[in-house]
Amino acid sequence: MNSEKIEIFDTTLRDGEQVPGCKLNTKQKLMIAERLDKLGIDVIEAGFPISSPGDFESVSEISKLVKNAKVCGLTRANKKDIDVAAEALRYAKRPRIHTGIGTSDSHIQFKFNSTRENILERAVEAVKYAKSYVEDVEFYAEDAGRTDNAYLARVCEEVIKAGATVLNIPDTTGYCLPEEYGQKIKYLKENVKGIEKAIISCHCHNDLGLATANSIAGAVNGARQIECTINGLGERAGNTALEEVVMILKQHKDLNFHTDINSKMLNEMSVMVSDLMGMPVQPNKAIVGANAFAHSSGIHQDGVIKNRETYEIIDPAEVGVNASSIILTARSGRSALAYRFKHIGFDITKNELDFLYQEFLKVADVKKEVKNDDLYMIMEVCSRKIV
Ligand code: KIV
Ligand code: ZN
Repeated sequence: MNSEKIEIFDTTLRDGEQVPGCKLNTKQKLMIAERLDKLGIDVIEAGFPISSPGDFESVSEISKLVKNAKVCGLTRANKKDIDVAAEALRYAKRPRIHTGIGTSDSHIQFKFNSTRENILERAVEAVKYAKSYVEDVEFYAEDAGRTDNAYLARVCEEVIKAGATVLNIPDTTGYCLPEEYGQKIKYLKENVKGIEKAIISCHCHNDLGLATANSIAGAVNGARQIECTINGLGERAGNTALEEVVMILKQHKDLNFHTDINSKMLNEMSVMVSDLMGMPVQPNKAIVGANAFAHSSGIHQDGVIKNRETYEIIDPAEVGVNASSIILTARSGRSALAYRFKHIGFDITKNELDFLYQEFLKVADVKKEVKNDDLYMIMEVCSRKIV
């Protein structure tokens, strides 16, 4: 059966850049946008043009630069925002305006001091107005995760009639459980008239560590676009991590989905964004963390040396990492030590290995990690003793 495509919408330059301390200048944004385009991203959310002259400039320059991806600008549901976004996107080959409004009762009451009816009208007006500029209009129902499903379905139905091509269902506060978020998408698929004219998009935040799981649940239940960021950067605990979604869809053939992302670029993408934003990646981060393909306990190392698949579900080359690393610590065994000695040019016999291993343990017990220069030193000490 042919697999279905999941569009990847990258919002590193918009939601990702909202992280305190991660501000980028236009040049840096252009470097990232160019690389995202090569990576195979379907939609690049380049910024929020009305938010500052700098952001306007970035969206405008990115629009001129990007060759393949759709370029998208965020707006609130008002004419001024939409005018400015349309102007910033003027040179984009495939422009998209992303407009929307909060739909949960708490947003309606506390943010807008308004009513459901009034919010519905504003949503429809915004989509119609955006549509007067561009064909491709994405509507976001902010805080959809906590919005009543029947009301959300009404909003979706009306904005589709007004011309929305994509319906973004954000779990803005990262509150939903995967089952709940998946059911929300299913409910919309089954209850919104005209839903076949639009695609549903997942935009999940990671406050409970569920952003990726929720996005996948959304896709399984009918969404065909996932919004995400490199390294999962974003407000508070971040957004869905792009590299996780891409590799889940790639590794789980049972889901029958594919993306157009060149996964071999994921590691370099992660390093570039981390360096430019000055935001280190946690070592145990899935897919792109420094330890994602590192093995340090003896049992695991022995297994991986015999056959990589015993403890690795992804070939590191698939994400652009040269090789799995065998880290030497006091928990490592003889086979890992022999492997690392071989790696630096020493073919050792079984007897030599027994001898070297005892010296190795002495060093390992006082160090966090035994590195190559320690191995040379161990080899030297042992050769002296053997002689
Ligand atoms: O999290 C959210 O709801 C958003 C919208 C503005 C799309 O980022
Ligand atoms: Zn968001």
